[in-house]
Amino acid sequence: MLDDKIKKITGEFHREILKINDIKKLENLRIKYLSRNGLISSLFNELKNLSKEEKPEFGKLLNNLRNMVTNQLTSTRQKFESASQGPTEKIDLSLPGFAGSIGSKHILTQTLDEIKSIFKGMGFSVFEGPELESDYNNFEALNFAPDHPARDMQDTFFINKDFVLRTHTSPVQIRVMNSKKPPVRAIMPGRVYRNEAVSSRSYCMFHQVEGLYVDTDVTFAELKGTLVSFAKQFYGEDTKYRFRPSFFPFTEPSAEMDVTCYLCNGKQTGWLEVLGCGMVDPNVFGFVGYDSEKFTGYAFGMGIERIAMLKYGITDIRVFFDNDFRFLKQF
Ligand code: DAH
Repeated sequence: MLDDKIKKITGEFHREILKINDIKKLENLRIKYLSRNGLISSLFNELKNLSKEEKPEFGKLLNNLRNMVTNQLTSTRQKFESASQGPTEKIDLSLPGFAGSIGSKHILTQTLDEIKSIFKGMGFSVFEGPELESDYNNFEALNFAPDHPARDMQDTFFINKDFVLRTHTSPVQIRVMNSKKPPVRAIMPGRVYRNEAVSSRSYCMFHQVEGLYVDTDVTFAELKGTLVSFAKQFYGEDTKYRFRPSFFPFTEPSAEMDVTCYLCNGKQTGWLEVLGCGMVDPNVFGFVGYDSEKFTGYAFGMGIERIAMLKYGITDIRVFFDNDFRFLKQF
């Protein structure tokens, strides 16, 4: 009798647990089988009607039944609980992977890298100087006398009476010449600052590259040759150029170099100024203790933003510093 009942309840439980699809129903099933008034308890109650010999045998069968039911209920509960915590890790190894996107260099860095590599190829080394510069290096040693009107050419951020945010990279010329005897052949890139209203054409901070070559018998012809070679390598072999007389306190004579616009390629309005240059003024040699009877030199300076704007047809200088992804990822 009890034997039949155990078999019946076992079969019933196996059928019922298969149909369980939520935790609430599972709990009802547990109550039905395992609670104090549940089916299995009532079978245990029937043990007392059995003979002494039958008791241990059926006791064992009932214990097995209870263990089986308990284990199945527990494992089904665990399945529901982990399913409710979202999908467990399932990796489809046959799917193609996601390629991580690596960034690229900022267009100003790319432009500077290109300028550096062209000048390195012509024997120039690279020096850098600080952005916070003495008034002496930024102006005085470059032959801007204290009251010289040429100081007005560059609107200056003064830190105090003696220090400024450098307005150009030319003071690095002074640093290089103070630390080295001729011959000197170097380019000097870096940030510069001007106290100007921000617009599409000017920004309060930008980048320049300075160039300096000092040796015995350096000539203006060498200056031209070097800059023309640079312009052709940078803007293309067909680039046309011209030099116009100009004025800078630290070079004499001074000139500005124009190239034909890369984009409009020599059509009428195509001349664009790319740099200032000249022969180092003997007064500057005086400030750094170079013998101006023995040495001559040339210098030049160019704005990196300006050069990049011409090359890539960028019309607003502010885009270099906005960090707008739509701009940056074009390069
Ligand atoms: N420092 C000048 C400026 O910021 C540019 C310049 C002109 C640099 C002539 C030079 C040079 O070395 O010879 O406008």
